[in-house]
Amino acid sequence: MDPVLDRIGELRVVPVVVVDGADEGARLADSLVAGGLPVAEVTLRTPGALAALEAVAAQPDVLVGAGTVVTAAQVDQVVEAGARFLVSPGLFEPVVRRAQERGVPILPGVATASDLMRAVDLGLDVVKLFPASVVGGPAAVKALSGPFPQMRFMPTGGVSAANLHDYLALDAVLAAGGSWMVDRALVTAGDWAEITRRTREAVGLAADPSY
Ligand code: 3PG
Repeated sequence: MDPVLDRIGELRVVPVVVVDGADEGARLADSLVAGGLPVAEVTLRTPGALAALEAVAAQPDVLVGAGTVVTAAQVDQVVEAGARFLVSPGLFEPVVRRAQERGVPILPGVATASDLMRAVDLGLDVVKLFPASVVGGPAAVKALSGPFPQMRFMPTGGVSAANLHDYLALDAVLAAGGSWMVDRALVTAGDWAEITRRTREAVGLAADPSY
């Protein structure tokens, strides 16, 4: 597997962040590092998302990815801003192929077996399951793993401290993604301490030996 994806598999949890501008990006990255989780998927959902991505990428100890990448042009933009992995809400071949041309791993969103057949055809071995809670949660991972035993999943959408265990307990789950640690309201309120607290809690849950 790609070494960046291996690292995501070691970290086990990927915070999905909505930040606007370099200052929020840098503070968010500091908060995640303080919580013991040096990884962030910076979503392209704010006017200052690329500046935020660059600010996170400037911290060499943080593995930064870009989320909500929906066009091939955005692939180029986020790779140039320093993204080391890409996440997309769905599976769109031009986006996947552009990421492959740029040599950056991409986790496209899948929700059905048909999506997974396209993922296999594109040579992918890790995908995002999205929106995980809506398409069946851990039961969907188990069911989709039957015909695709080689595929690893990053469930995202509705993951929280309350159900993280249910996903991470499955061998097919590489890592789980979510925004619960880095809720946008906490960022806008500047409540970095609460972000660090939730992050530390998630790290503790992921490290629980009973998994
Ligand atoms: C995503 O972009 O993957 C989701 O918005 C994250 O889902 P969550 O907010 O339910 O964690």
